[in-house]
Amino acid sequence: MVKNSRKKGALKKYAPTKTRALSKRRKSVNWLLLITTLGLVAGALHYLRTHPNTPPLPAPPADAVYKRADQPIEARLDDLMRYMTLEEKISQMALVDKNSLKRITDISTYNLGGILSGAGSKPRDNTPEGWLEMVSNIKYQAASSRLGIPLLYGIDANHGHGNVPGSTVFPHAIGLGASGDPELVRSVAAATAKEIKATGINWSYSPSLDAPLDIRWGRVYEAFSDNPALNASLGAAFVEGTQYNEKDTEELNILATAKHFLGTGSMEWGKSRNKRFKIDQGVIPADEALLDSHYLPPFKAASDAGAASVMVGLNFWGEGRVISNRQLVTEKLKYELGFKGFVVSDWYGMYEFSGISKYQANIETINAGVDMAMLPFDYKAFIKDVKMAVNQGSISEARIDDAVRRILYQKFKTGLFDLEESDTPTLDNVGSKEHRQLGRRAVAESSVLLKNQDMLLPLSKQSGRILIAGSAADNIGRQCGAWTVEWQGIDGNWLKGATSILQGIREVAGQSSDIEYEKDADFDARRPKADVGVAVVGEKPYAEGWGDNPNPTLDEADRQVIERLRTVSKKVVIVVISGRPLLMSEQIRRADAVVAAWLPGSEGAGLADVLFGNQPFKAKLPLAWPAGLNQIPLSPGGLTADKSQPLFARGHGL
Ligand code: BGC
Repeated sequence: MVKNSRKKGALKKYAPTKTRALSKRRKSVNWLLLITTLGLVAGALHYLRTHPNTPPLPAPPADAVYKRADQPIEARLDDLMRYMTLEEKISQMALVDKNSLKRITDISTYNLGGILSGAGSKPRDNTPEGWLEMVSNIKYQAASSRLGIPLLYGIDANHGHGNVPGSTVFPHAIGLGASGDPELVRSVAAATAKEIKATGINWSYSPSLDAPLDIRWGRVYEAFSDNPALNASLGAAFVEGTQYNEKDTEELNILATAKHFLGTGSMEWGKSRNKRFKIDQGVIPADEALLDSHYLPPFKAASDAGAASVMVGLNFWGEGRVISNRQLVTEKLKYELGFKGFVVSDWYGMYEFSGISKYQANIETINAGVDMAMLPFDYKAFIKDVKMAVNQGSISEARIDDAVRRILYQKFKTGLFDLEESDTPTLDNVGSKEHRQLGRRAVAESSVLLKNQDMLLPLSKQSGRILIAGSAADNIGRQCGAWTVEWQGIDGNWLKGATSILQGIREVAGQSSDIEYEKDADFDARRPKADVGVAVVGEKPYAEGWGDNPNPTLDEADRQVIERLRTVSKKVVIVVISGRPLLMSEQIRRADAVVAAWLPGSEGAGLADVLFGNQPFKAKLPLAWPAGLNQIPLSPGGLTADKSQPLFARGHGL
């Protein structure tokens, strides 16, 4: 080819002048033609690539039934389904991480069903304003597609709208579990929903209904408790608070997600399928009877409360993945429980540990009952492959229709087709005074008084000299834990608007006590002993399998802090900031008072409220506090592994 064109050029070089001029003009015309043709071909190819439905279909009329808010949902749904091509249906099943979007216009080109901000998938301007702008731009793309189907925008808001700096960070779920109070949980969920909605987001990946039996697992704190009845009542309250503006009304807020279906929390140590983890993403040993009696009831409660979606976990049940198990996902959840929402996979959950091609994994999981795929990366391949699978008869059109109807039903029900801009709460809601007050109350109501010798607590506001120390005393990052701005959280004081525990104590104790703070408790030992020493100690933030820990306990620095405080104060209070009970029997035995404050979030003053008696201690342990490794894991009935008494039983709280 190259050789030939060289030869042609060489021949022309010797033509007479006139002919040369003519041929020059012809040559430029030819070039023009060639460029135009190439341009047209490239344009057409691009169009074909980006418009899977050719020739382009016309947009439905402006008064199409599905666009009319005055029509019943079922009629709107039927109408919309009639307009949709197979590709458009499959695309509604695709959920893509914001950072995996090749072009923002792909949302309308491919008619994508949902976008999510996986942890840390944030706007460049990481402020509430920046979030609103980013999400609005993305949602606008969906509105400009042929059918104008609104987009779901999902986020992990498991303890407030924690991804967004400036939001109210509420206690993680384990603390809410300790409060045991459905009304409080409903209010926290509703306030969170309002903050989420203010930034344009309409879907929350909470609540978690996992029931952790092993405190070595890195996700214990995301669950309310290991008690199915408590998980059911708080889970339902969380769903209602998230989804309904007012209790008992159909006025909808945003979509909630009950997760991680099914049996999550019962996994066995050392059996993770993920090489980097130990127990997270592992194997569920429970038999079917146990799944039914222990793990299913909270999902039934969430489903009855109207949960819009259920997320399937990444675990294995025996040899097979939960996500490919039709008996669990379709028969139990959809048929037996009568779940009317849609089933979404976890992050990359369709493919993770599948051992088969993505093409086959799509077939397996969609047939098992997954309606929406948190891909979260390659949406083009997903649409192409699922279409091929349908055309080849490996997935029925009826299954696709069912999945899409479930997704669209929730979009209609939540009013996404009809929302006006004025329906969005203002950004003042993010981290509002009212929400922070609620957060402060939630902290007080979730702190468990484990031990209180000689009624040391509450401290008097005239307690004299109080020494405060410990890694978590003045560390907002630690008290918020993970899923705060970053997936793994950020250690240290960096979150604007938040109050550290030390600040809270200073504020609540007022001027009448003499508060001194030294992180490492390097207080002057030559001075007379202080009246009280408060050690605020605990864990660094962690999320998911990265928090799997063979021996959850205090680190050496915190242990030394407690020891030093003992030498310089008459009495010692230990406040534990952790995502799970820690193995620290010796420290607890030697302390005068111990408080489990879990991961309280941004409102540290709530802890000071209970320490100084502004609020009473009311919370109870939502799961047993083991004395040692020999007692782990707990059995679903609450017994320890070696049948000995735990240090504190579930329900303990002074
Ligand atoms: C977690 C889910 C979470 C999802 C989206 C996954 O890694 O297991 O709980 O909702 O990511 O961020």
